[in-house]
Amino acid sequence: MTDSTTEDTETFGDLGKILVIIPTYNEIENIARITGRVRAAVPEAHILVADDNSPDGTGQAADDLAAEDPNVQVLHRKGKEGLGAAYLAGFRWGIDHGYDVLVEMDADGSHQPEQLPRLLTALRGADLVLGSRWVPGGSVVNWPKSREFLSRGGSTYSRMMLRVPIRDVTGGYRAFRKQTLLGLGMSEVASQGYCFQVDLAWRAVRAGFRVAEVPITFVEREFGASKMSGNIVGEALKLVTTWGIQSRLGKIPAPVPDREA
Ligand code: GDD
Ligand code: MN
Repeated sequence: MTDSTTEDTETFGDLGKILVIIPTYNEIENIARITGRVRAAVPEAHILVADDNSPDGTGQAADDLAAEDPNVQVLHRKGKEGLGAAYLAGFRWGIDHGYDVLVEMDADGSHQPEQLPRLLTALRGADLVLGSRWVPGGSVVNWPKSREFLSRGGSTYSRMMLRVPIRDVTGGYRAFRKQTLLGLGMSEVASQGYCFQVDLAWRAVRAGFRVAEVPITFVEREFGASKMSGNIVGEALKLVTTWGIQSRLGKIPAPVPDREA
């Protein structure tokens, strides 16, 4: 079910410079595959691998890829600090290096690079595009029922608690305009796991940005293991519940925009 062809051969120069950020923790079997697919699918996009000092040597493997391809760069972080922290560091790096579009993509192939043109096309008319499993045309392949239940449940709960008009609030395949990240108050974000994704989407909505969802086919990884854990789910449940209550009490302040450095 993996797409073997890129859907769209058009280019995206009108959107500015594009950076695909790929966070990694122990993705040694996946790193070369994913970077190769991104380069083939959208040749103009650059890649930043944000590695948390993976014990399996993913960081070194990424350095080797970067040595052969100037469009691949690596951000080495000192240890495992969570997906949210890795993305925030990657966004900051990308903005500081002059990128206009910042894309979130998992390393394990779940987010198919061949569908990236779809996200970028939609970004022409939006400030944030979410790759969505739970809109018509979206789907998951090879996901255990338990994960699907958790993801659908997490999205529904977040949508109701936070009153965000988004079907897939926890998804991690996204394209942001730089102005969206700066405007949603990136530096105020403290959440780590699933919740990081909910936090960013909700902030974008509160800051008045145009958020679009496009269908994606999420393919469960073939190699390596998920880092999802009970703690990550627990953090999400606790924070979304707290935020929902606080917002009903009028205690959630508007996002404070960041300045460009
Ligand atoms: N640098 C870094 N640090 N990377 C991490 C960390 C971390 O602490 N934890 C996970 N990652 C990387 C993984 O190596 C992978 O590239 C990506 O983040 C996603 O991790 P997975 O462990 O494969 O996540 P998942 O498949 O269970 O969860 C997916 O679905 C969630 C729910 O919809 C992801 O797309 C999540 O972003 C999403 O919230
Ligand atoms: Mn995964």
